[in-house]
Amino acid sequence: VETEEKTAPKPQGDWKRRLPQVIIIGIKKGGTRALLTFLNAHPQVVISGKEVHFFDRKYDKGIEWYRKAMPYSYDNQLTIEKTPSYFVTQQVPQRIYRMAPGTKFLLVVREPVARAVSDHAQSLSKGKTTPFEEKAMLDERRCAVDRSWSAIRIGLYSLHLTNWLRYFPRSQFLFVSGENLVANPGQEMEKVQDFLGIQRTLTEKSFVMDETKGFPCLREDQGSVKCLGKNKGRSHKPVDPQIRACLAKFYQPYNEKFYNMTGINFHWED
Ligand code: A3P
Repeated sequence: VETEEKTAPKPQGDWKRRLPQVIIIGIKKGGTRALLTFLNAHPQVVISGKEVHFFDRKYDKGIEWYRKAMPYSYDNQLTIEKTPSYFVTQQVPQRIYRMAPGTKFLLVVREPVARAVSDHAQSLSKGKTTPFEEKAMLDERRCAVDRSWSAIRIGLYSLHLTNWLRYFPRSQFLFVSGENLVANPGQEMEKVQDFLGIQRTLTEKSFVMDETKGFPCLREDQGSVKCLGKNKGRSHKPVDPQIRACLAKFYQPYNEKFYNMTGINFHWED
């Protein structure tokens, strides 16, 4: 999926491609496409519609390549890209630090078991067939979780965040609740806009709930409504309750640590 970038107005003023001042670094399946799409509706924001993967896969192309991968902007606009694999890739924070130590980060987080299920649903849609329970567990009877499976590993948020906090202070991150981005998008987007220092253009009134899918869509200027594509907001097969309980127990100490690091209790255990 891509979010369609804004169409370019007539080039005038200081209209050029700039390095991003803000990066959505993850978390995969947290709701990163929704956040990027909502931000794109803001006049003070321009986005890269594609995941650029510069700091993890294409770093050898060099910083000029990266700048040219960004959309055109005016100097009063923020350039934002999102690549969710950044959050879990060891070398990325150091590389971003070298480019611009003042970069701001948006991290959309979501209860890690739900996130893993969503990640697996994406694999199923791409033709994989192994059931979630089989992938997630080393030994069901002993409640032993396979933490080497990427869908499990990505959910160890406190471990990944530790790597980022070696380079950047907590104040350069905004932790966006994936759950609240669905339930109260206006409220969550107000926090995002305040953090970015842009006007509160997106409010509760900017969103309308798609009651069939249970996800919010954007109300556009001409009264039309824009929802995310059909590969966002998939339905998931329910997970065996015993295995879900094992996973919840497995993540609990990592979640706790993450709440301490961020100063936010996301209440994923409730
Ligand atoms: P599911 O499709 O598994 O439900 P990402 O964009 O980071 O890959 O995250 C995808 C997830 O974003 C979806 O996972 C869905 O739960 C969530 N989401 C959040 N807001 C959404 C919205 N407005 N429309 C569709 N999906 C949304």
